[in-house]
Amino acid sequence: MCRVSGYIGKKETLPIIMDGLRRQSYGGYDSSGVVIGKDSNLTCIKAVGKLENLEKKLEGQNLKGNWGIGHIRWASHGAVTEANAHPFWDCKKNIYLAHNGIIENYRELKDVLIKEGHKFISETDTEVAVHLIEKYFEGNLEEAVRKALKEIRGAYGFVIIARDDPQKIVAARLSSPLLIGINEDSYIIASDPTAIVPYARKIINLDDYEIATITLKDLFIIKEKVPETLELVPEEAEKGGYPHFMLKEIMEEPEAIENAIRGRLMIEEGSVKLGGLDSISEKLRKINRLILVACGTASYAARVGEYMLEEYAEIPTEVDIGSEFRYRKPVVDKNTAGIFVSQSGETADTLAALKEMKQKGILTLGITNVVGSAQARETDAGVYTRSGPEIAVASTKAFLGQLATLAMLTVYLGRQREMALVMGKRIVSELAKLPELAKDVLKSAPEIEKLAKKYKDYKNFWFIGRKYNAPIASEGALKLKEISYLHAEGVAGGELKHGSLALIDENFPTVAICPSDSVYEKMVSNIQEIKARGGPVIAVATEGNEDIKKIVDDVIYIPKTLEMLTPMLSVIPLHLFSYYVAALLGHDVDRPKNLAKSVTVE
Ligand code: G6P
Repeated sequence: MCRVSGYIGKKETLPIIMDGLRRQSYGGYDSSGVVIGKDSNLTCIKAVGKLENLEKKLEGQNLKGNWGIGHIRWASHGAVTEANAHPFWDCKKNIYLAHNGIIENYRELKDVLIKEGHKFISETDTEVAVHLIEKYFEGNLEEAVRKALKEIRGAYGFVIIARDDPQKIVAARLSSPLLIGINEDSYIIASDPTAIVPYARKIINLDDYEIATITLKDLFIIKEKVPETLELVPEEAEKGGYPHFMLKEIMEEPEAIENAIRGRLMIEEGSVKLGGLDSISEKLRKINRLILVACGTASYAARVGEYMLEEYAEIPTEVDIGSEFRYRKPVVDKNTAGIFVSQSGETADTLAALKEMKQKGILTLGITNVVGSAQARETDAGVYTRSGPEIAVASTKAFLGQLATLAMLTVYLGRQREMALVMGKRIVSELAKLPELAKDVLKSAPEIEKLAKKYKDYKNFWFIGRKYNAPIASEGALKLKEISYLHAEGVAGGELKHGSLALIDENFPTVAICPSDSVYEKMVSNIQEIKARGGPVIAVATEGNEDIKKIVDDVIYIPKTLEMLTPMLSVIPLHLFSYYVAALLGHDVDRPKNLAKSVTVE
């Protein structure tokens, strides 16, 4: 939720940049900064808090110049401090840069740059970009930016200037808005058109992968398709010491939650900040029905979302899988919105459903992991899950990112409606604790591996759960099927007695998700039905519940959290269980037979 600003022209730069920042400040910010260039001198001033604080620091500085950049920051990586405020500079104080977006691979880049001798002063993801540009700078700024962008993964709207390539602004965009206003004697740049309209006659909306070089005389745009760096990295090095990507990605599940919520929770306001929805927030107020569409694992995240959205945002919600929705005759009206959930953003069935909804003129939203994917481009607005690259075919950490995003969307829509401040605060503060709780769940990995050894030779499994954990039962079963090739079914606990129970015997174990929540007693009854027929049961229960041990054969404990957030903890042992069973059976866990990571055909 940052915003950038830039100006080059005949007028005094500082007042125009400050006005640009003020006009873009409606979304909230916590610090700000500017760099103004005169001849080949660059002066950078930053301040924490309101823009008035920056203005105070600027008083008496007589900062004159004809080109410069500015930024307002909403903290994501690192605390609200002056060191973490933009613009950032390189080791030589030559290049200055401001950024709106997120650099997903900043840790890897930072490690390399530190080894190469670069000195960092902030905790932000952004600072790596300025050092990376420094690495490639040989006198021509746009050339260095072009090379650096090839290594950056994530979303960005960058404005960049350099002392040693003066009177020039380089602007680059991928998935974060960036606009350039044009006048006879000047160019103005901003993330938001409101900052440009008063100053320019014509506006260019930069496209993804475009890099603009702006001088006093000229504006020059090149389009650079940034190659995926993923394939270039040796596979073993990327696994970070784990035997499979899937295990690495499960171990990254706490981080996936953390990345999704970073900078988006407003605990005091009991609300969330989802910058990607700003442009449609008024339209969303009028929505009275939601249709969530997804495939595979993402469809189970959508089903959890259905429970969340109906219970807390009080919006009638339904879920469909892409392959069905595209051939239905959906009855929708202008107050319906479609929400598309997809890790890759390229799943053909989901995209076809999106096309169908767009044809009907419905508002469409994307919950997507891959920046710049077809889904991200084609929806009206959306939220990135920021889970980072997911390599293993079976989706794991991306699921956690989807659940965290759906929980935030619930708070966003709920607070636009009847959700009370206290309820918003409760959900948001519990969400903030989840990454740590998820780390606790991962500590049971050795125990879960032992259980996998005990159960790996069974050929059939049930997974049961109720309410928020009914979709998690389906996800647990899908994961086991996908990579271990064992037969597994996920069913809502209450439905067992309507047929499935016929299969239960001592050779048909059940994984029962039964946290201490509003349906716990009901789940216990379902477990009793299984035990009465001789079926072995592994329970996923809340820490401190000793009673459950008396009924079931094995227990995996998860910490207590809000009922609507339990899926983000209960799914972790199921992912681990599937992984260990498949690995013990000697399967190619990362590349299961017959499956593809991104199914781009019908
Ligand atoms: C494929 C993958 C699944 C995934 C599904 C949806 O079938 O094997 O793991 O859940 O596609 O993918 P998406 O990228 O749309 O989330």
